Amino acid sequence: MKRLHLAHLPTPIVQPKRLAEAIGLDLWVKRDDMTGGAESGNKIRKLELLLADALAQGADTLITCGGVQSNHARATALVGASLGLSSVLYLRTTDPGVVPDGLGRWAPWPEGTPITGNVVLDRLAGAEIRLITPASYRDRARVMEEAAAELRATGRTPYVIPEGGSNGLGSLGYVEAMGEVRRQLDLGLAGGEPFDVVVLACGSGGTAAGVTLGAARHEVAAEVRAMAVCDDAHTFEQVIERIMAEARALDPRLTRAAHLVVDDSAKGPAYGVSTPAQRRRLVDVARLSGLVLDPVYTGKAFAGLWDLVDSGAVERGERVLFLHTGGLPGLLAQGEELRDVV
Ligand SMILES: Cc1ncc(COP(=O)(O)O)c(C=O)c1O
Repeated sequence: MKRLHLAHLPTPIVQPKRLAEAIGLDLWVKRDDMTGGAESGNKIRKLELLLADALAQGADTLITCGGVQSNHARATALVGASLGLSSVLYLRTTDPGVVPDGLGRWAPWPEGTPITGNVVLDRLAGAEIRLITPASYRDRARVMEEAAAELRATGRTPYVIPEGGSNGLGSLGYVEAMGEVRRQLDLGLAGGEPFDVVVLACGSGGTAAGVTLGAARHEVAAEVRAMAVCDDAHTFEQVIERIMAEARALDPRLTRAAHLVVDDSAKGPAYGVSTPAQRRRLVDVARLSGLVLDPVYTGKAFAGLWDLVDSGAVERGERVLFLHTGGLPGLLAQGEELRDVV
C-alpha cells in the first residue's frame, strides 16, 4: 500500500505516574497528540494512506467533512496545503443564522461565524469552508460527490475523503500504529508486555477499526475499548465492522481482530457537549499529569475509563494503553465552557 510519511513517528508511550495512581491502573498513554505540529492528532496516520491515493489519482483538491470544529478537516487542510492541494470542507453547524442554503454549496464566509480553534487553522491553510445543516450532513456522501462533479466540470481533479478519514484505507494507518507499539514493546518500552486493553475515543470508527485489527495482528492487546463520543454502541459496532471489512479487502492478512467493546457510557449530552463531571476530569488529568485532553473526544473517553474503574467494570491494576488522539484546537474553541472548572 502506498503511504506518505507525514507524521512524526514513533510517537512516545508515557507513564503518567500520579494519574495512574489516582485511578488505580497500570496506565500508559500513546501520545498520538504528538504526531505533528498544528496538523497533529490521529488523522495524519489515516491521511498518510488517503493522500498517497489522492496523489496517485492526480488530485489537486481534497473534499471532506466534519463538525464545525472538526480536527480531521483541519488536519486535511493543513497537510493538503503542505502538499500543494486545495481543500473544500463541509462543516456541520447547528447555528441557523449562518447557514446559507440546504447544501451549503459555495457558501460565502458567513459574517459572524466564530473563527476559533480548528476553524482558524482551516482558514490559515486556505481551505474553502462550506457550512452545512445537520439535515444535509446526513446526506454528506452525496453532497461531496456533487461538489466533486462541479469541480470536475471546471477542470479540477477532486478527491473525496469520508468523514474522519474513516474508510478501510484510512484505518490501515492504525493497523500500522499498533505495529509501531509492538516495536516499542519489543524494545522493552512501556513495560515490554502486551496490554490488557487499548482504550480510545471513537467518533467515526476508523481509528477503532484499525486499532482492533492491528492490536490482534501485532499482539498488542487482546481487547479494545472504543469510547463513543456520540451515537450509540450498536451504531458504531456496525460502522466499525464495515470499515474492518473494507480494510481486510485491502489487506487479506488481517484475519484476526481483538475483542472489541464499544462503550457509549461516556458520550455525554451530545456530540461536542460534555458534562460538568467530564470537564472536571479533564482538569484533574491536566493537573495530575500535564496531559491535555479535549472536551469532544479524548476527555470523554478518559473520563469514561476513570468511571469504569470506579464502578469496577474495569479492574484496578489493569494494564491499559490509552490512545491520546489529539484535539487541542477543539479545547481552545471551548474556553468559555471550561470557565467554571479552570
Ligand atoms: C481528537 C480526536 N480523537 C478521536 C477521534 C475519533 O477518531 P475516529 O473518527 O477515527 O473514530 C477524532 C475524530 O473523529 C478526533 O479528532
